[in-house]
Amino acid sequence: RYEITQREATAEVLPGLKTPLWTYDGTFPGPTIESRRGRAITVTHHNELPVPTVVHLHGGRTPAESDGYPTDLVLPRNWSEQHTGHTMHDPRAVVTQHTRDYTFPLDQRPTMLWYHDHRMDFTAPAIWRGLAGLHIIRDDAEESLGLPAGERELPLMIADRAFAEDGSFAYPSLDPGLRVLPGVRDEYFAGVLGDVILVNGAPWPVHEVDAARYRLRVLNASNARHYELEAVTDDGRALDLVQIGADQGLLATPVTHQSVPMAPAERYDLVIDFTDIPIGSRVRVLNRLGTGRTREVMAFHITRRAEDDSRIPTTLSTDLPTWDPSDAVRVRDFTFRAGRTNGHHGWLIGGLPFDPARTDVTTRLGDVELWRLTADIHHPVHLHLVGFHVLSRAGRPPLPHDAGLKDTISLRPGETAEIITRFDAYRGRYLFHCHNAEHEDMGMMANLEVV
Ligand code: C2O
Ligand code: CU
Ligand code: CU
Repeated sequence: RYEITQREATAEVLPGLKTPLWTYDGTFPGPTIESRRGRAITVTHHNELPVPTVVHLHGGRTPAESDGYPTDLVLPRNWSEQHTGHTMHDPRAVVTQHTRDYTFPLDQRPTMLWYHDHRMDFTAPAIWRGLAGLHIIRDDAEESLGLPAGERELPLMIADRAFAEDGSFAYPSLDPGLRVLPGVRDEYFAGVLGDVILVNGAPWPVHEVDAARYRLRVLNASNARHYELEAVTDDGRALDLVQIGADQGLLATPVTHQSVPMAPAERYDLVIDFTDIPIGSRVRVLNRLGTGRTREVMAFHITRRAEDDSRIPTTLSTDLPTWDPSDAVRVRDFTFRAGRTNGHHGWLIGGLPFDPARTDVTTRLGDVELWRLTADIHHPVHLHLVGFHVLSRAGRPPLPHDAGLKDTISLRPGETAEIITRFDAYRGRYLFHCHNAEHEDMGMMANLEVV
């Protein structure tokens, strides 16, 4: 049982300046929750913020009433209902006053999840202001593998932010208390980017490490920025990034990369080996898609020789579910494209903007489905409730970094990708959406009903 108070706080993110934040329990990122597979937990959230909130555990196999549906608001104190506007017109919304219990059975493969705000139309500014935290599920099988652990396991939440001169996060928004910039929907249509890269809330941190193997559990928590990460030594050599896990837990066998592309909400579980790096030198984590300041992400400073009995087994897991296309009882097609509805520009799935009152997809519990997703530009598409496999991209086999069980796929411009999954968790109302947070707020989200 956990208690989290959502409240305003300030932190010194940039030296000498105070950044006002919306937080889980006073910090950004929020507290990292560590749990055990199959051991249910309840997280009680108290909303002391000036706005309604919704908590979603991203990647969780969660009963619908705790999944953080965007209209299941937790109202702040003294909030009058008329301020809640159209999100109140969802007859199925379960709105609570000030406090809500979220229950997570955690009956799922161990992995790193994250929790974040999911309020309808306001997810992007809420995450931007700080409402995000990590959640790590562990089990005995994973712990017995001998992977780097303890001090040598580093969860890394990467997120870009823009700052105003006074140190506050600059986000153009219609939310109460934030400035409204004219024309903002057009200017930020593609998504909001920052020019400062934060890792676990700190700009371009330098982390001291031993000359040993480390497990890096990386999340791209940015609203809209894509990265392609590489780890480069002082003499310009790119170190191997050995991928051991994806969004939904360990791979069957490791996959070695020179660089790893990361769309918003994707996670990569990587092992990096500093053993042969000269003491006193650095390994910089760079973003190949960035320019200038956004090329740098963080650095490791190798400070000492040390014992290392960690290993990367050639078999990481044997419980990965797999589904064959011939198991699929249904094939569905979805387009993720910009378009006009009701006179304004939005981001649409199948030509429609999100509407809580419309059921877009109905599936039966236990059914295997094959989905074909087509994008106009980059869209990281996320399914709640289940993990999936990538079957193909543009008619070709998936890419090396598509390995394992995913909950978010980075759709590339103009591409059609096929994914396959089985809806075998819980019945109820869930979502799928683009995880560019601005696209999501501008309509690129749809309902998935498991019956
Ligand atoms: Cu990470 Cu529906 O969200
Ligand atoms: Cu999610
Ligand atoms: Cu998108």
